[in-house]
Amino acid sequence: MNVLLIGSGAREHAIARAIDNSQKDSAIHCFASNMNPGIADLCSRLALGNINDPKAVVEYARETSSTMAIIGPENPLAAGVADALWDMGIKVVGPKKDLAQLETSKAFTRDLLKEYNIPCGPHYHTFDSMEGVSEFLAELGENYVVKYDGLAGGKGVRVAGDHLQSHNEALAYCMELVDKGDEFVIEEKFIGQEFSLMSFCDGDTLKHMPAVQDHKRAYEGDRGPNTGGMGTYSDANHSLPFLKDSDIQEAHTINIATARALKNKFGEGYKGVLYGGFMATGNGVKLIEYNARFGDPEAMNVLSLLKSDFIDICERMADGTLDGADVQFQNKATVCKYAVPEGYPDNPVKGEPINISNIENSDGLFYASVDMKNGKLVEAGSRTVAVVGIADSIVEAEAIAEKEVSSVSGPLFHRSDIGTATVIQERMDHMNSLR
Ligand code: AMP
Ligand code: GLY
Repeated sequence: MNVLLIGSGAREHAIARAIDNSQKDSAIHCFASNMNPGIADLCSRLALGNINDPKAVVEYARETSSTMAIIGPENPLAAGVADALWDMGIKVVGPKKDLAQLETSKAFTRDLLKEYNIPCGPHYHTFDSMEGVSEFLAELGENYVVKYDGLAGGKGVRVAGDHLQSHNEALAYCMELVDKGDEFVIEEKFIGQEFSLMSFCDGDTLKHMPAVQDHKRAYEGDRGPNTGGMGTYSDANHSLPFLKDSDIQEAHTINIATARALKNKFGEGYKGVLYGGFMATGNGVKLIEYNARFGDPEAMNVLSLLKSDFIDICERMADGTLDGADVQFQNKATVCKYAVPEGYPDNPVKGEPINISNIENSDGLFYASVDMKNGKLVEAGSRTVAVVGIADSIVEAEAIAEKEVSSVSGPLFHRSDIGTATVIQERMDHMNSLR
């Protein structure tokens, strides 16, 4: 079986490993935006091209006689790459453009949940002018969030008390969006602890993955600019230390209800990974956002634990037969840490060599934004390499990940606080204070 893998970050490296670990005989063909040596090692062919151009992807799929495609990042989903591949008879893991609006439009998702009475959303309004903005901010008081209504790599969201210190600052951001002709959503700010709950989805049936907590801020103590995610952890019981069983149940129920709503709305099901970004609050689980793909770094946590056959799961998602799948994960804790270029995310150094030769467990190393220059591995400007530690407890997994990430040399930094006992205790204390 020829499998087309679209994308070339650490998430796609984790996907490539999961394909490689499958019992099914398959050849991986990767359509990539950068040269990822980890993926290149695992695949028959890696071609560089514009992964957001449906025509180019379809052409590569034809050349490689691929019969199934797995789409890693969100931009190809937004560009209709899944639609184009289905049109030529290729099975796709990753939703079509209409269904991917779940990630590409904040307003679409809020409206969908409201229309189908899925009760986990904030009080919100969508705007395309300044009319009513001041009034709605006044209604929300100090707890508001302003979100640009489109894909912005996490940079379109500004949270009160975090990025916005007053209604005047909020109004200025809204004006900026209106001037650019953009729509935006203003919504109630939730207080609590965030977690990611991803589900494999075939349109009808969902099989849930372990919960994961990501760390979006660049610096220790959750300070500094937002990033794609500096690191993540998951626990051996597939929940998180600050969550109750009922929180996990609520997140499952919300993902199931959302998949059902999408099918009802579009007359066809969502096939791919449904990623709910949730907040556990003093008042139950709330939905912050949906993503229409595996999280990065979350994919490294969950795929490192997957016991079941990944290709089988992918075929079943595409065929609509997930009901019969036995999806199992090891009962181990994981910690993933990214090493990122100095200056990341605003002013990253680029082209500088890094040395990964001191990594002890190469199975726990995932290449991301790297390149080869004069035979040397160099930083390409975004998150560089990720490492995963696996153990019986989060704290033990953290020690492994910390040792491994510290062994990578070059002009890099990482967050040493992710997954430590102190930080986990803080999260538990915070949640306890809200319940
Ligand atoms: P999003 O792109 O919608 O996930 O937003 C990025 C980040 O902004 C989230 O990970 C949260 O930390 C924060 N955020 C977004 N919406 C809310 C909300 N309604 N309440 C609190 N924080 C939020
Ligand atoms: N880890 C956050 C994301 O993948 O969007």
